[in-house]
Parts: sequence; structure tokens; C-alpha cells
Amino acid sequence: MHRTHTCGEVDESLVGERITVAGWVVAMRELGGLTFVVLRDRYGNLQVVFEKDKPDIAHGYVVKVEGTVRMRPEDQYREDWRSGKVEVLVDRYEILNPSVPLPFQPEDDVKASEEARLRFRPLDLRRPRMQENFRVRHEINLFIRNYLSERDFLELETPILTKSTPEGARDFIVPARLQPGKFYALPQSPQLYKQVLMVAGFDRYFQIARCFRDEDLRADRQPEFTQLDLEMSFVSDPEDVLTLIEGLIAEIFRRWAGADVEPPFPRYTYHEVMERYGSDKPDLRYSVAYEDWTERLAGKGNRIIDSNVERGAKVKALVLPVSLSRGQIDRLLKGFQFLWFKVKDGKPSGNLARFVKDTDLTPYEGKTVFVFVGKGTPFYEALGEFRATVTSLFLKPEREWSFLWVKDFPLLQWNYDEGRIEPAHHIFTSPYEEHIPLITEIENALKEGREGEEIDELAQRVLGKQYDLVINGVEIGSGSVRVHNADLQVRLLKLIGLTEEEIEERFGFLINSLRMGAPPHGGIALGLDRIVAMCRGEESIREVILFPKTTTGVALFEGAPSDVSPEQLEELGLEIRRGG
Ligand code: AMO
Repeated sequence: MHRTHTCGEVDESLVGERITVAGWVVAMRELGGLTFVVLRDRYGNLQVVFEKDKPDIAHGYVVKVEGTVRMRPEDQYREDWRSGKVEVLVDRYEILNPSVPLPFQPEDDVKASEEARLRFRPLDLRRPRMQENFRVRHEINLFIRNYLSERDFLELETPILTKSTPEGARDFIVPARLQPGKFYALPQSPQLYKQVLMVAGFDRYFQIARCFRDEDLRADRQPEFTQLDLEMSFVSDPEDVLTLIEGLIAEIFRRWAGADVEPPFPRYTYHEVMERYGSDKPDLRYSVAYEDWTERLAGKGNRIIDSNVERGAKVKALVLPVSLSRGQIDRLLKGFQFLWFKVKDGKPSGNLARFVKDTDLTPYEGKTVFVFVGKGTPFYEALGEFRATVTSLFLKPEREWSFLWVKDFPLLQWNYDEGRIEPAHHIFTSPYEEHIPLITEIENALKEGREGEEIDELAQRVLGKQYDLVINGVEIGSGSVRVHNADLQVRLLKLIGLTEEEIEERFGFLINSLRMGAPPHGGIALGLDRIVAMCRGEESIREVILFPKTTTGVALFEGAPSDVSPEQLEELGLEIRRGG
């Protein structure tokens, strides 16, 4: 090795000893004929002192130095460095590799744009914060592997070149040279394989699995991301999975985020969170919730309320514990349709004021009350959006962490844009047994040509054994108990509009496996990038992915996607149509 010690492990116990260290030059200054250089490696910073001539080195050079360890003057201790009490008096040095002038200094207060950081990613990754992000990511991976191995899970690797098994997003596809005109798909998740592994008798599987989805990107979405994916046989109830996972998650967030969290996490039904928060991933660091004011306000003479309630709408009120100004309310009104009032010195004001006169207003003194009227999924989504907006603008989180499970999602929903029924999660989720008769009703209703709200209302009543893990308002994981009965699986696939032939072509391998003695099974997948980003307090998962893509799907460092040669295209039998 080019060193006897790393830069991060030189302490008082080595004073007087000759050591050799190597690292990158991250700072240099001259003082009274001496040159002070800070060398850095993964383990830390170390000051080395050149007494004689100024060394011929610069920022970014990789340098090896030999010398004697001595104490630094006490007033110059760097308490934030592990090797901050000592320095090395250099008697020999060697340049292991020079460096061109760096486009930016790899320090945590980096001024470079994200584009520059991604373009010169190795330099960006040299920043201590990034090094720590990936060290933590490694530790979490290791912890997960041990936790699950100790509980009899096997880590099994499923294929990357596979068959398209749609899960809602578009597939990335790969042309197959040996089968001209045919394509592999990159897996959106190992979903079907892990179910088949249960048929294969592996009983408990996990994988730190790369998944690929060609979808619109955001701060918490990448086209290529990592899941902790797992599946268990003989699961009878969602709770079998939830207790295992909350133990794992609580320990990760205690260790790497310092969160004060104890399982069990609270469980809510989908119905509850939609009614109370208008969202299936509510951020419960804020306690404000919607209340049902239908009875209180219907029939009081407000035209908007009365006409909507007659058509089955509900009146939902959100009591914000702050008194907003007219200006603030007007700005909020721009994005949302609502009625409101606030109470000052016992007197209500606002467009609802005259309709609440006979209400006891004391609980609302100094507060602002927003009232919405409506029904259906888009209405609830708007409620959720409004709650997220007002909490982030006007309230402080009441606690640092909110962990919760949402359970009992509707199995199916009506897709209003495409005019068809679709799975709310994925079509492999098991309905509750007692709701299976409702599926017959939906089948009949569809045969009769009914659609839209009518079908949606029916579909929302069929509950699936699905569960989501939500942390601070972010969906961290999702899973379900699966359909293990082949006939039921075929019925569900037909319900979402697939023909017998399509089912055979696309899911034949699953259905045939289910017919060969599939045990009851269930599982979950957790977004590992999201977990690590959250533990590290990062806003974007790009900070915990080595070489992430930009929001337009470009890998700036290596320059992908790129053209391929005409010969490669020829070999694949592909032609590129340019222009329109
Ligand atoms: P789902 O599609 O909900 O479920 O994905 C599970 C979790 O993966 C994370 N995730 C993402 N993270 C980063 N970028 C993305 N583009 C992205 N998409 C999803 C989220 C999400 O909660 N096979 C099922 C799981 C199962 O049923 O067992 C599945 O993939 O944190």
C-alpha cells in the first residue's frame, strides 16, 4: 500500500512515529516559510506541514507524504476532524497523480449547479456529505440483509432481461438480436417472479432489486431505482407483513435518522385517511384534519351547499388554528373553490359568516375555517392538496416524524380518462373474501354497459388486502396479500379488460404457476432510495444515487442515452425514423 495509515486515523497515540499517508490536496496555505496542506481521504482530513521548500502540488493532486506525527498547538485543534489534534511534519513527498484545475471544490458548501455536479459526478461524490450518504446507504443495506437473513429470508436474484409485466408505468424495452423483431422488457419490479418463487417453495424471499420505469420524473422518482423487495408464503393477514416491516423500519430510522420511534405504527384505513386528510399518504406531523359538517351546514340556506348536498355531496371543514388575513385567503382562493369564515371577538366574518351565526363559535375564536362541498375522488384529491398547501404555508410540524400504515385500499377504480376499470395498486392484490361477491356485481354492471361514477362507486366498495407505509407524507412502500387462486386471478385480469388470449400471452406463466399449488402469499416493496434520502435529510433521491438521471432522463456524466452505430441497428433489424 502507498500508506501506513489513513488520513482519518492519526491521533495522539502516534505522536513521534514516522508514518506514510496519501490523499487529495483539499487546502493549502503558506505561513512564515511553512506550507500547510490538508490531505483528505474517505476517512477524514489531516494537516501535513512542509518545512523546507514549498511543494510543487495544487488542489486536487493525489499526494503521498512520509513524516513524523506531532501535536498541533492546542488552540489550533480541529475538533470536527478525527485527526484534528495532530499533524505530520513531512520529510518526503511524492505526487501519485496531478490534477487539472477542478471545475469546483469538492466541499459541502458547493456552489456549483446540479448540472455541473452531475456532469463531474466523481468530484461531487468526493464531497464529505456524499461520502457519508453512501456509507449510510451501505450500512442500511447490510442491516437489511442481516435482519432478513436472521428471519429465514433468502436473497434471490431475479432477471433483468424479462417480459413486460405492466405495473402502471411504461416499460423500458431492449431489442433481442437473437430473436429478430422481439424485445425484452426491463422489470418495473420483480412482482411476478417473487410470486412464482413462492410457488417454487422458497418460502421467504428478499432482494435489493433494481427496478426500471419509463415515467415522468420528480425529486423522489428516478427511471432506475432500488426497492427492498420481499415476499412470504403462508401469509394469511396483512399484519403478518406489517409487523415484520415496521420492526425493520423503526430500527433503521432510529439508527440512521435519530428518530424516536417505536412500533407498532398507527394503522388507518384508506377510507379513514381520505375522509380526514384527503390523501392516501397524509403527513401526520400536522394534526389538522377535515371534519364532516354536512349536518351542521346543510339546509341553512347556502345555495352552493344545499344544491350539492342534494346530489349526494358532503361538506368538509378544515379548522386552521391561525387567523389568516383577507389577502392570504384571497391568494389561497385562487387555486381552490371554498367557503370560509373566521372568528374575532366572537364575531364571524367571511362568505360563510351568516350561515354559522347559530353555531357556538367559541371553539373557532382566532381560527380560520375552510369549507368545501363535493364528492368523488377528484374532490378528495383537492382536499388533500389544500391541506398540504395550508400546512406547509402556515403551520409548523408538531413532531419530527410521522410513521403510519394505510390499509384496505379499494381493489379497483374507474379510470375516467380512459373509460375503463383498473387496479388501484396492481391486479395481483387479493380482495377480502367477503367482498368477492361484489366483483360479480361489477362484472354484471360492465356487461350491461354501465360506466363512470356508477362503476367507480361499486368498485370502491371492493377492498383489497393492500397496505402502504407512509413516512412524513411520503409513500415509502407498498404491498399486498396476493391472489393465489388462478381462476380468481383470471377473472380479475378480465375485469380490467384483458381477453383470454392477452391473459395467456402476457400472464400465462403466472397463471400456470398458480395452478401448480401456489401457497397463500404476500409481500411488500420499499423504496430504498427514499428511505436513505429521508434518513439523511436529503430533499431528492438523486443525492443518494451514484449516477442519477436528470428530470429529462439524461445521465449527464456518461452521456446516456446516446446514438448507436448503424451496424448495431442493422444487426438488430431496427431503423430509426428521424423527424416527425
Ligand atoms: P410500488 O410500485 O408501489 O409497488 O413500488 C414500491 C415502492 O417503490 C418506490 N418507488 C420509486 N422510487 C423511486 N423512483 C421511482 N420511480 C419509484 N417508483 C416506486 C416507492 C414505492 O412505495 N411490486 C410492487 C410491490 C408489491 O406489491 O410487493 C411495487 O413495485 O417508495
